[in-house]
Amino acid sequence: MLKAVILIGGPQKDTPKPLFPIAGLPLIQHHIKACVKLVECKEILIIGSYTINHMAQFVSDMQKEYQIIIRYLQEFTPLGTAGCLYHFRDQIRAGNTSSFFLLNGDVCADFPLQELWIFHEKRGPNALITIMGTEATRQQSVHYGCMAIEPTSKAVTHYVEKPNSYVSTLISCGVYVCSVHVFNIMAKVFEEKDNCYYSTNGVSSPQPGYMSWEQDILAPLAGTTKLYAMQVTNWWSQVKTPGSAIYANRHYLELYRKRDAQNAPTANCKIIPDVYIHPTAEIDSSAVIGPNVSIGAGVKIMAGVRIKESIILSNARIHDHALIMHSIVGQDATVGEWSRVEGTPSDPDPNKPFAKMDNTPLFNVDGRLNPSITILGSLCNVVSLIDELRNEGFRRRTRVTNTAHGSIK
Ligand code: GDD
Ligand code: GTP
Repeated sequence: MLKAVILIGGPQKDTPKPLFPIAGLPLIQHHIKACVKLVECKEILIIGSYTINHMAQFVSDMQKEYQIIIRYLQEFTPLGTAGCLYHFRDQIRAGNTSSFFLLNGDVCADFPLQELWIFHEKRGPNALITIMGTEATRQQSVHYGCMAIEPTSKAVTHYVEKPNSYVSTLISCGVYVCSVHVFNIMAKVFEEKDNCYYSTNGVSSPQPGYMSWEQDILAPLAGTTKLYAMQVTNWWSQVKTPGSAIYANRHYLELYRKRDAQNAPTANCKIIPDVYIHPTAEIDSSAVIGPNVSIGAGVKIMAGVRIKESIILSNARIHDHALIMHSIVGQDATVGEWSRVEGTPSDPDPNKPFAKMDNTPLFNVDGRLNPSITILGSLCNVVSLIDELRNEGFRRRTRVTNTAHGSIK
Protein backbone atom coordinates (compact mmCIF):
# COMPACT_ATOMS: atom_id res chain seq x y z
CA MET A 1 0.00 0.00 0.00
CA LEU A 2 1.04 3.56 -0.72
CA LYS A 3 0.53 6.54 1.58
CA ALA A 4 1.39 10.21 1.42
CA VAL A 5 2.85 12.39 4.16
CA ILE A 6 2.63 16.19 4.01
CA LEU A 7 4.91 18.22 6.29
CA ILE A 8 3.48 21.56 7.35
CA GLY A 9 5.73 22.75 10.20
CA GLY A 10 4.29 24.97 12.89
CA PRO A 11 2.50 28.26 13.49
CA GLN A 12 4.16 31.58 12.91
CA LYS A 13 1.16 33.67 11.88
CA ASP A 14 -2.60 33.76 12.59
CA THR A 15 -3.77 31.99 9.43
CA PRO A 16 -1.96 28.69 9.20
CA LYS A 17 0.04 28.93 6.00
CA PRO A 18 -0.96 25.44 4.85
CA LEU A 19 -4.57 26.63 4.78
CA PHE A 20 -3.94 29.90 2.92
CA PRO A 21 -6.24 29.86 -0.13
CA ILE A 22 -4.55 29.73 -3.51
CA ALA A 23 -6.74 29.49 -6.60
CA GLY A 24 -9.66 29.01 -4.21
CA LEU A 25 -8.20 26.03 -2.33
CA PRO A 26 -6.12 25.83 0.85
CA LEU A 27 -2.44 25.49 -0.11
CA ILE A 28 -2.14 21.83 0.90
CA GLN A 29 -5.43 20.85 -0.74
CA HIS A 30 -3.50 21.04 -4.01
CA HIS A 31 -1.17 18.34 -2.59
CA ILE A 32 -4.17 16.25 -1.56
CA LYS A 33 -5.75 16.64 -5.01
CA ALA A 34 -2.54 15.31 -6.57
CA CYS A 35 -2.29 12.38 -4.11
CA VAL A 36 -5.87 11.15 -4.53
CA LYS A 37 -5.33 10.85 -8.28
CA LEU A 38 -3.18 7.80 -7.57
CA VAL A 39 -5.47 4.87 -6.91
CA GLU A 40 -2.67 3.11 -5.00
CA CYS A 41 -2.54 5.97 -2.47
CA LYS A 42 -4.90 4.96 0.34
CA GLU A 43 -4.12 7.37 3.17
CA ILE A 44 -2.74 10.87 3.66
CA LEU A 45 -1.02 11.96 6.86
CA ILE A 46 -0.39 15.61 7.60
CA ILE A 47 2.31 16.24 10.20
CA GLY A 48 2.86 19.57 11.93
CA SER A 49 2.77 21.42 15.21
CA TYR A 50 -0.39 23.48 14.64
CA THR A 51 -3.03 22.63 17.21
CA ILE A 52 -5.73 20.20 16.23
CA ASN A 53 -8.24 23.11 16.46
CA HIS A 54 -6.54 24.74 13.51
CA MET A 55 -6.66 21.61 11.40
CA ALA A 56 -9.73 19.58 12.41
CA GLN A 57 -12.29 21.29 10.17
CA PHE A 58 -10.01 21.13 7.16
CA VAL A 59 -9.23 17.43 7.67
CA SER A 60 -12.89 16.57 8.05
CA ASP A 61 -13.78 18.59 4.89
CA MET A 62 -11.06 16.81 2.94
CA GLN A 63 -12.17 13.35 4.08
CA LYS A 64 -15.69 14.12 2.90
CA GLU A 65 -14.62 15.62 -0.38
CA TYR A 66 -12.12 12.96 -1.44
CA GLN A 67 -13.43 9.87 0.40
CA ILE A 68 -9.95 8.87 1.56
CA ILE A 69 -8.42 8.52 5.03
CA ILE A 70 -6.74 11.80 5.99
CA ARG A 71 -5.22 12.25 9.43
CA TYR A 72 -3.53 15.15 11.15
CA LEU A 73 -0.64 14.14 13.43
CA GLN A 74 0.42 16.88 15.82
CA GLU A 75 4.00 17.07 17.07
CA PHE A 76 4.40 18.22 20.67
CA THR A 77 7.49 20.16 19.56
CA PRO A 78 9.08 20.63 16.12
CA LEU A 79 11.19 17.52 15.59
CA GLY A 80 12.65 18.50 12.24
CA THR A 81 11.77 17.18 8.81
CA ALA A 82 12.96 13.61 9.58
CA GLY A 83 12.40 13.61 13.36
CA CYS A 84 8.65 14.04 12.86
CA LEU A 85 8.53 11.14 10.38
CA TYR A 86 10.42 8.90 12.76
CA HIS A 87 8.21 9.90 15.67
CA PHE A 88 5.09 8.87 13.72
CA ARG A 89 6.70 5.88 11.99
CA ASP A 90 4.13 3.41 13.34
CA GLN A 91 1.26 5.41 11.85
CA ILE A 92 3.10 5.68 8.52
CA ARG A 93 3.92 1.95 8.39
CA ALA A 94 0.54 0.74 9.65
CA GLY A 95 -1.54 -1.30 7.21
CA ASN A 96 1.37 -2.82 5.31
CA THR A 97 2.64 0.38 3.71
CA SER A 98 5.45 -0.38 1.28
CA SER A 99 6.28 3.18 0.28
CA PHE A 100 5.07 6.70 0.90
CA PHE A 101 5.19 10.03 -0.86
CA LEU A 102 6.70 12.80 1.20
CA LEU A 103 5.70 16.34 0.27
CA ASN A 104 6.79 19.64 1.76
CA GLY A 105 3.61 21.57 2.49
CA ASP A 106 5.12 24.87 1.36
CA VAL A 107 5.66 24.03 -2.28
CA CYS A 108 3.21 24.24 -5.13
CA ALA A 109 3.48 22.37 -8.38
CA ASP A 110 1.99 20.32 -11.12
CA PHE A 111 2.98 17.31 -8.95
CA PRO A 112 4.05 14.41 -11.22
CA LEU A 113 3.38 11.75 -8.57
CA GLN A 114 2.51 8.93 -10.96
CA GLU A 115 5.75 9.44 -12.93
CA LEU A 116 7.73 9.71 -9.72
CA TRP A 117 6.26 6.44 -8.49
CA ILE A 118 6.98 4.60 -11.77
CA PHE A 119 10.52 6.00 -11.83
CA HIS A 120 11.10 4.86 -8.25
CA GLU A 121 9.75 1.35 -8.89
CA LYS A 122 12.09 0.97 -11.86
CA ARG A 123 15.16 1.58 -9.65
CA GLY A 124 14.55 -1.78 -7.96
CA PRO A 125 14.32 -2.86 -4.31
CA ASN A 126 17.64 -1.26 -3.41
CA ALA A 127 16.23 2.23 -3.99
CA LEU A 128 15.18 3.87 -0.73
CA ILE A 129 14.29 7.37 -1.86
CA THR A 130 13.63 9.18 -5.13
CA ILE A 131 13.76 12.98 -5.07
CA MET A 132 11.80 15.11 -7.51
CA GLY A 133 14.44 17.46 -8.89
CA THR A 134 14.33 20.55 -11.07
CA GLU A 135 16.74 22.96 -12.67
CA ALA A 136 17.48 26.29 -10.95
CA THR A 137 19.75 29.18 -11.83
CA ARG A 138 23.32 29.05 -10.54
CA GLN A 139 22.76 31.89 -8.05
CA GLN A 140 19.42 30.67 -6.73
CA SER A 141 20.38 26.98 -6.46
CA VAL A 142 22.25 27.56 -3.19
CA HIS A 143 18.96 28.31 -1.39
CA TYR A 144 17.81 24.72 -1.96
CA GLY A 145 19.01 21.15 -1.56
CA CYS A 146 21.55 20.70 -4.38
CA MET A 147 22.50 17.39 -5.92
CA ALA A 148 24.72 15.76 -8.52
CA ILE A 149 23.51 12.62 -10.27
CA GLU A 150 25.06 9.78 -12.23
CA PRO A 151 23.64 10.46 -15.76
CA THR A 152 22.57 6.92 -16.68
CA SER A 153 21.24 5.41 -13.47
CA LYS A 154 20.12 8.81 -12.01
CA ALA A 155 21.61 7.78 -8.66
CA VAL A 156 22.43 10.80 -6.51
CA THR A 157 26.20 10.93 -6.05
CA HIS A 158 26.37 14.10 -4.00
CA TYR A 159 23.79 16.04 -1.94
CA VAL A 160 24.34 19.30 -0.08
CA GLU A 161 21.53 21.17 1.69
CA LYS A 162 21.70 24.92 0.97
CA PRO A 163 25.45 24.94 0.19
CA ASN A 164 27.60 27.98 0.91
CA SER A 165 28.89 28.01 -2.62
CA TYR A 166 27.74 26.60 -5.95
CA VAL A 167 27.37 22.82 -6.15
CA SER A 168 24.83 22.06 -8.88
CA THR A 169 21.83 23.61 -10.61
CA LEU A 170 19.82 20.44 -10.01
CA ILE A 171 17.78 21.14 -6.87
CA SER A 172 15.38 19.18 -4.70
CA CYS A 173 11.70 20.16 -4.99
CA GLY A 174 10.90 18.83 -1.50
CA VAL A 175 8.81 16.01 -3.02
CA TYR A 176 9.90 12.39 -2.64
CA VAL A 177 8.94 8.74 -2.87
CA CYS A 178 10.36 6.73 0.05
CA SER A 179 10.46 3.05 0.89
CA VAL A 180 9.48 2.32 4.50
CA HIS A 181 12.95 0.74 4.89
CA VAL A 182 14.18 4.31 5.28
CA PHE A 183 13.04 4.01 8.92
CA ASN A 184 15.93 1.54 9.52
CA ILE A 185 18.38 4.30 8.54
CA MET A 186 16.49 6.78 10.70
CA ALA A 187 16.70 4.42 13.68
CA LYS A 188 20.51 4.43 13.43
CA VAL A 189 20.70 8.20 13.06
CA PHE A 190 18.29 8.63 15.97
CA GLU A 191 20.48 6.46 18.20
CA GLU A 192 23.71 8.21 17.20
CA LYS A 193 22.18 11.64 17.86
CA ASP A 194 20.73 10.48 21.13
CA ASN A 195 24.11 9.18 22.32
CA CYS A 196 25.79 12.38 21.20
CA TYR A 197 23.21 14.49 23.05
CA TYR A 198 23.59 12.65 26.35
CA SER A 199 27.38 12.27 26.16
CA THR A 200 27.80 16.02 25.70
CA ASN A 201 24.99 17.01 28.08
CA GLY A 202 23.10 18.51 25.17
CA VAL A 203 25.84 21.02 24.33
CA SER A 204 26.79 19.82 20.84
CA SER A 205 23.52 18.62 19.38
CA PRO A 206 19.87 19.64 19.21
CA GLN A 207 17.15 18.18 21.42
CA PRO A 208 16.73 14.39 21.39
CA GLY A 209 14.47 13.23 18.58
CA TYR A 210 15.35 16.13 16.30
CA MET A 211 16.50 14.98 12.85
CA SER A 212 16.80 16.78 9.56
CA TRP A 213 15.64 14.81 6.54
CA GLU A 214 17.99 16.70 4.27
CA GLN A 215 21.12 16.76 6.42
CA ASP A 216 20.84 13.55 8.43
CA ILE A 217 19.23 11.24 5.86
CA LEU A 218 19.60 12.48 2.27
CA ALA A 219 23.18 13.77 2.44
CA PRO A 220 24.67 10.54 3.92
CA LEU A 221 22.69 8.41 1.43
CA ALA A 222 24.28 10.14 -1.58
CA GLY A 223 26.76 7.84 -3.32
CA THR A 224 25.24 4.64 -1.90
CA THR A 225 22.94 3.88 -4.92
CA LYS A 226 19.98 4.03 -2.54
CA LEU A 227 19.10 7.62 -3.41
CA TYR A 228 17.83 8.72 -6.84
CA ALA A 229 16.58 11.89 -8.48
CA MET A 230 14.00 12.28 -11.21
CA GLN A 231 14.47 15.59 -13.00
CA VAL A 232 11.24 17.24 -14.15
CA THR A 233 10.34 20.36 -16.08
CA ASN A 234 6.82 20.72 -14.64
CA TRP A 235 5.89 24.01 -13.05
CA TRP A 236 7.09 24.08 -9.44
CA SER A 237 7.64 26.82 -6.85
CA GLN A 238 8.10 27.34 -3.13
CA VAL A 239 5.52 29.41 -1.23
CA LYS A 240 7.64 31.37 1.23
CA THR A 241 6.58 34.96 0.61
CA PRO A 242 3.20 36.61 -0.06
CA GLY A 243 4.42 37.44 -3.57
CA SER A 244 4.82 33.74 -4.26
CA ALA A 245 1.15 33.17 -3.36
CA ILE A 246 0.10 35.47 -6.22
CA TYR A 247 2.52 33.63 -8.53
CA ALA A 248 1.22 30.22 -7.43
CA ASN A 249 -2.37 31.43 -7.84
CA ARG A 250 -1.72 32.20 -11.50
CA HIS A 251 -0.16 28.80 -12.18
CA TYR A 252 -2.75 26.70 -10.35
CA LEU A 253 -5.58 28.56 -12.14
CA GLU A 254 -3.90 27.93 -15.48
CA LEU A 255 -3.15 24.30 -14.64
CA TYR A 256 -6.73 23.45 -13.64
CA ARG A 257 -8.16 25.21 -16.68
CA LYS A 258 -5.87 23.40 -19.11
CA ARG A 259 -5.45 19.99 -17.52
CA ASP A 260 -8.75 19.45 -15.74
CA ALA A 261 -10.78 21.60 -18.15
CA GLN A 262 -12.09 23.43 -15.09
CA ASN A 263 -14.87 25.78 -16.13
CA ALA A 264 -14.44 29.53 -16.04
CA PRO A 265 -16.48 31.12 -13.24
CA THR A 266 -19.97 32.22 -14.05
CA ALA A 267 -20.25 35.88 -13.15
CA ASN A 268 -22.17 38.58 -14.91
CA CYS A 269 -19.28 41.04 -14.77
CA LYS A 270 -16.33 41.27 -17.16
CA ILE A 271 -13.78 38.52 -16.47
CA ILE A 272 -10.28 38.45 -17.89
CA PRO A 273 -9.03 34.83 -17.40
CA ASP A 274 -7.84 33.21 -15.29
CA VAL A 275 -10.11 33.98 -12.37
CA TYR A 276 -11.56 31.97 -9.48
CA ILE A 277 -14.74 33.25 -7.84
CA HIS A 278 -16.32 31.49 -4.87
CA PRO A 279 -20.02 30.78 -5.56
CA THR A 280 -21.09 32.87 -2.56
CA ALA A 281 -19.23 36.02 -3.67
CA GLU A 282 -21.40 38.88 -4.94
CA ILE A 283 -19.98 40.91 -7.77
CA ASP A 284 -21.51 43.95 -9.45
CA SER A 285 -21.95 43.59 -13.21
CA SER A 286 -19.86 46.70 -13.89
CA ALA A 287 -16.74 45.33 -12.13
CA VAL A 288 -13.76 44.08 -14.17
CA ILE A 289 -11.89 41.12 -12.66
CA GLY A 290 -8.67 39.46 -13.83
CA PRO A 291 -6.26 38.24 -14.88
CA ASN A 292 -4.96 36.12 -12.00
CA VAL A 293 -7.54 36.85 -9.33
CA SER A 294 -9.08 34.61 -6.68
CA ILE A 295 -12.12 35.79 -4.78
CA GLY A 296 -13.12 34.02 -1.56
CA ALA A 297 -16.43 33.15 0.07
CA GLY A 298 -18.85 35.93 0.95
CA VAL A 299 -16.81 38.70 -0.70
CA LYS A 300 -18.82 41.72 -1.93
CA ILE A 301 -17.57 43.67 -4.90
CA MET A 302 -19.43 46.84 -5.81
CA ALA A 303 -19.86 48.93 -8.97
CA GLY A 304 -16.90 49.89 -11.15
CA VAL A 305 -14.31 47.95 -9.18
CA ARG A 306 -11.18 46.78 -10.99
CA ILE A 307 -9.10 43.89 -9.62
CA LYS A 308 -6.12 42.13 -11.15
CA GLU A 309 -3.21 39.94 -9.94
CA SER A 310 -4.70 39.65 -6.45
CA ILE A 311 -6.22 37.33 -3.88
CA ILE A 312 -9.30 38.59 -2.02
CA LEU A 313 -9.95 36.57 1.14
CA SER A 314 -13.36 35.69 2.50
CA ASN A 315 -15.95 38.31 3.45
CA ALA A 316 -13.87 41.29 2.27
CA ARG A 317 -15.88 44.25 0.91
CA ILE A 318 -14.62 46.24 -2.01
CA HIS A 319 -16.55 49.45 -2.48
CA ASP A 320 -17.40 51.37 -5.65
CA HIS A 321 -14.64 52.13 -8.16
CA ALA A 322 -11.83 50.86 -5.95
CA LEU A 323 -8.77 49.47 -7.73
CA ILE A 324 -6.77 46.50 -6.42
CA MET A 325 -3.61 45.24 -8.11
CA HIS A 326 -0.80 42.90 -6.99
CA SER A 327 -2.29 42.63 -3.52
CA ILE A 328 -3.78 40.30 -0.94
CA VAL A 329 -6.87 41.65 0.79
CA GLY A 330 -7.42 39.96 4.17
CA GLN A 331 -10.56 38.39 5.59
CA ASP A 332 -13.29 40.87 6.48
CA ALA A 333 -11.22 43.80 5.25
CA THR A 334 -12.96 46.80 3.70
CA VAL A 335 -11.66 48.88 0.82
CA GLY A 336 -13.45 52.21 0.56
CA GLU A 337 -14.77 53.73 -2.66
CA TRP A 338 -12.23 55.14 -5.12
CA SER A 339 -9.36 53.71 -3.06
CA ARG A 340 -6.33 52.33 -4.85
CA VAL A 341 -4.57 49.34 -3.29
CA GLU A 342 -1.50 48.54 -5.30
CA GLY A 343 1.57 46.39 -4.75
CA THR A 344 4.72 45.73 -6.73
CA PRO A 345 4.71 42.53 -8.77
CA SER A 346 7.29 39.98 -7.61
CA ASP A 347 7.55 37.18 -10.14
CA PRO A 348 10.64 35.18 -11.06
CA ASP A 349 12.88 36.99 -13.55
CA PRO A 350 11.25 36.16 -16.92
CA ASN A 351 14.53 36.76 -18.75
CA LYS A 352 16.42 34.06 -16.88
CA PRO A 353 15.67 30.46 -17.80
CA PHE A 354 14.82 28.32 -14.72
CA ALA A 355 14.57 31.40 -12.46
CA LYS A 356 12.53 30.87 -9.28
CA MET A 357 10.88 33.36 -6.95
CA ASP A 358 13.36 35.41 -4.96
CA ASN A 359 12.47 35.05 -1.30
CA THR A 360 13.66 38.52 -0.41
CA PRO A 361 13.27 39.60 3.23
CA LEU A 362 10.93 42.42 4.26
CA PHE A 363 13.82 44.84 4.76
CA ASN A 364 17.19 45.14 3.01
CA VAL A 365 20.41 45.03 5.05
CA ASP A 366 20.47 48.82 4.90
CA GLY A 367 16.97 48.97 6.41
CA ARG A 368 15.09 49.90 3.24
CA LEU A 369 11.75 48.22 2.56
CA ASN A 370 11.86 45.79 -0.36
CA PRO A 371 9.10 46.49 -2.87
CA SER A 372 6.60 43.65 -2.91
CA ILE A 373 2.92 42.93 -3.16
CA THR A 374 0.61 44.84 -0.80
CA ILE A 375 -1.24 43.07 1.99
CA LEU A 376 -4.27 44.43 3.75
CA GLY A 377 -4.54 42.50 7.00
CA SER A 378 -7.79 40.91 8.07
CA LEU A 379 -10.41 43.41 9.31
CA CYS A 380 -8.29 46.23 7.90
CA ASN A 381 -10.31 49.20 6.68
CA VAL A 382 -9.17 51.50 3.89
CA VAL A 383 -11.39 54.47 4.52
CA SER A 384 -13.08 56.25 1.67
CA LEU A 385 -12.29 59.94 1.68
CA ILE A 386 -14.75 60.62 -1.07
CA ASP A 387 -17.47 62.18 1.06
CA GLU A 388 -15.13 64.65 2.68
CA LEU A 389 -13.46 65.37 -0.64
CA ARG A 390 -16.81 65.94 -2.31
CA ASN A 391 -17.44 68.64 0.23
CA GLU A 392 -14.12 70.18 -0.68
CA GLY A 393 -15.19 70.12 -4.31
CA PHE A 394 -12.46 67.87 -5.75
CA ARG A 395 -11.58 64.21 -6.08
CA ARG A 396 -8.53 62.39 -4.86
CA ARG A 397 -7.81 58.79 -4.06
CA THR A 398 -6.78 56.99 -0.96
CA ARG A 399 -3.74 55.13 -2.18
CA VAL A 400 -2.30 52.18 -0.35
CA THR A 401 0.95 50.62 -1.40
CA ASN A 402 2.98 48.05 0.45
CA THR A 403 1.13 48.68 3.69
CA ALA A 404 2.44 45.49 5.12
CA HIS A 405 4.20 42.62 3.56
CA GLY A 406 6.54 39.89 4.59
CA SER A 407 6.75 36.20 5.13
CA ILE A 408 3.54 34.19 5.22
CA LYS A 409 5.30 31.30 6.94
N1 GDD B 1 6.09 18.55 10.84
C1 GDD B 1 7.16 19.30 10.68
N2 GDD B 1 8.05 19.39 11.70
N3 GDD B 1 7.34 19.92 9.52
C2 GDD B 1 8.45 20.67 9.38
C3 GDD B 1 9.41 20.81 10.40
C4 GDD B 1 9.19 20.13 11.64
O1 GDD B 1 9.96 20.20 12.59
N4 GDD B 1 10.40 21.63 9.95
C5 GDD B 1 10.05 21.98 8.70
N5 GDD B 1 8.87 21.41 8.36
C6 GDD B 1 8.15 21.50 7.08
C7 GDD B 1 7.95 22.93 6.59
O2 GDD B 1 6.69 23.42 6.96
C8 GDD B 1 8.05 22.76 5.08
O3 GDD B 1 6.80 22.38 4.52
C9 GDD B 1 9.01 21.60 4.91
O4 GDD B 1 8.98 20.88 6.13
C10 GDD B 1 10.46 22.01 4.60
O5 GDD B 1 10.73 23.20 5.26
P1 GDD B 1 12.14 23.79 5.69
O6 GDD B 1 12.78 22.91 6.66
O7 GDD B 1 11.87 25.22 6.03
O8 GDD B 1 13.05 23.69 4.41
P2 GDD B 1 13.10 24.62 3.11
O9 GDD B 1 11.71 24.82 2.61
O10 GDD B 1 13.95 25.81 3.32
O11 GDD B 1 13.87 23.66 2.10
C11 GDD B 1 13.34 22.42 1.82
O12 GDD B 1 12.54 22.49 0.64
C12 GDD B 1 13.26 22.83 -0.56
C13 GDD B 1 12.25 22.82 -1.70
O13 GDD B 1 11.23 23.71 -1.46
C14 GDD B 1 14.48 21.41 1.62
O14 GDD B 1 13.91 20.13 1.51
C15 GDD B 1 15.29 21.74 0.38
O15 GDD B 1 16.23 20.72 0.16
C16 GDD B 1 14.38 21.86 -0.84
O16 GDD B 1 15.15 22.27 -1.95
P1 GTP C 1 -1.88 48.16 -18.28
O1 GTP C 1 -2.57 47.89 -19.59
O2 GTP C 1 -1.73 46.93 -17.43
O3 GTP C 1 -0.66 48.98 -18.37
O4 GTP C 1 -2.94 48.99 -17.46
P2 GTP C 1 -3.34 50.54 -17.57
O5 GTP C 1 -2.20 51.38 -17.95
O6 GTP C 1 -4.59 50.66 -18.39
O7 GTP C 1 -3.72 50.91 -16.08
P3 GTP C 1 -3.34 50.25 -14.71
O8 GTP C 1 -2.41 49.07 -14.86
O9 GTP C 1 -2.92 51.33 -13.78
O10 GTP C 1 -4.77 49.75 -14.27
C1 GTP C 1 -5.26 48.50 -14.63
C2 GTP C 1 -6.71 48.61 -14.97
O11 GTP C 1 -7.46 49.22 -13.95
C3 GTP C 1 -7.02 49.38 -16.21
O12 GTP C 1 -8.02 48.65 -16.89
C4 GTP C 1 -7.55 50.72 -15.73
O13 GTP C 1 -8.53 51.22 -16.61
C5 GTP C 1 -8.21 50.34 -14.44
N1 GTP C 1 -8.13 51.36 -13.43
C6 GTP C 1 -7.10 52.17 -13.11
N2 GTP C 1 -7.39 52.94 -12.05
C7 GTP C 1 -8.66 52.61 -11.68
C8 GTP C 1 -9.53 53.05 -10.64
O14 GTP C 1 -9.21 53.87 -9.80
N3 GTP C 1 -10.76 52.48 -10.56
C9 GTP C 1 -11.15 51.55 -11.44
N4 GTP C 1 -12.35 51.04 -11.31
N5 GTP C 1 -10.37 51.09 -12.43
C10 GTP C 1 -9.14 51.63 -12.55
